[in-house]
Amino acid sequence: MSIQWYPGHMTKARRTIAESMPAQDVIIEVLDARMPLASENPVLAELRGQKPCIKVLNKSDLADPAVTTAWLRHFEAERAAPSDEAPGDASPGGKVLAIAISASQPGEARRRIPELCKRLAPPKNGPGKVVRAMIVGIPNVGKSTLINALMERKVAKVGDEPAVTKSQQLVTLKTGMAISDNPGILWPKIDDEAASFRLAVGGAIPDTAIDYQSVALFAAGYFLRRYPELLVARYKLKELPETAAALIEEIGRRRGCLRSGGAVDLHKASDILVHDFRAGRLGRVSLEEPPGLEAPSGIEESA
Ligand code: G4P
Repeated sequence: MSIQWYPGHMTKARRTIAESMPAQDVIIEVLDARMPLASENPVLAELRGQKPCIKVLNKSDLADPAVTTAWLRHFEAERAAPSDEAPGDASPGGKVLAIAISASQPGEARRRIPELCKRLAPPKNGPGKVVRAMIVGIPNVGKSTLINALMERKVAKVGDEPAVTKSQQLVTLKTGMAISDNPGILWPKIDDEAASFRLAVGGAIPDTAIDYQSVALFAAGYFLRRYPELLVARYKLKELPETAAALIEEIGRRRGCLRSGGAVDLHKASDILVHDFRAGRLGRVSLEEPPGLEAPSGIEESA
């Protein structure tokens, strides 16, 4: 898969986020709950250093609840593990807390995020002082939606060009925290092939920048292994196809995506699968699991 992201954008994004960093008390890193590692940018850890961070697993309404719970436990365990660099220090990379939220419950985000910010950055802020936070993440993870939820108003959507955009204004919320009305936009991780595929399936990498059918094949293969029952239900399959390619063909046949001569239009069939995933029409599905996750069924979502 070949993806171009412009080095100029990356340099600008890195510089502007680095410049905004000293003024912040807490960093709010928005991730896609369906792929929390693929949707992070490791450069952020480097830029924030020891600055406390809230990992917000957004779009949890679309993610597999058991897998989301496992991710929250994974981040919690990571937080509790002593650092290699500083044995005995239980907070490698500064304090990190993780929560799962979704746009369907904006009140939950408004209540819990300021609470966590205050937990992470309390003492030096005396009475009357606000906790300053910056929202960052790759395109399409829900940064603007979260800013709107926190501010209780509609802020114009920023472009997807990696960088912190033009006029950044600090807005103080009723809850006593202050956030920038423009997020820090990081570039998606494209040097790891599996992460690139996950991001492409989710739409964080533009469809025009990728080999769309390979992306659909990746998704089909994962769903066949991990969520066969959802595929059977969604596409009314009589039996489960054995390969990813066979699944795409079968979806095409069932949905009448045929070329003249009767061959399946694989691009159209791929489109159906990818868009069904993005819109949550397959059901609640995650594309990435934390290391060591075993038989996640039956675990309640705690967030
Ligand atoms: P960004 O600033 O990080 O680029 O993301 P943004 O908030 O624009 O959100 C990207 C898309 O994801 C939007 O859909 C938004 O509605 C959707 N979204 C954000 N948070 C959630 C969530 O928790 N759950 C679900 N299901 N969707 C979420 P869109 O189709 O691009 O735009 P629109 O339909 O909202 O106009």
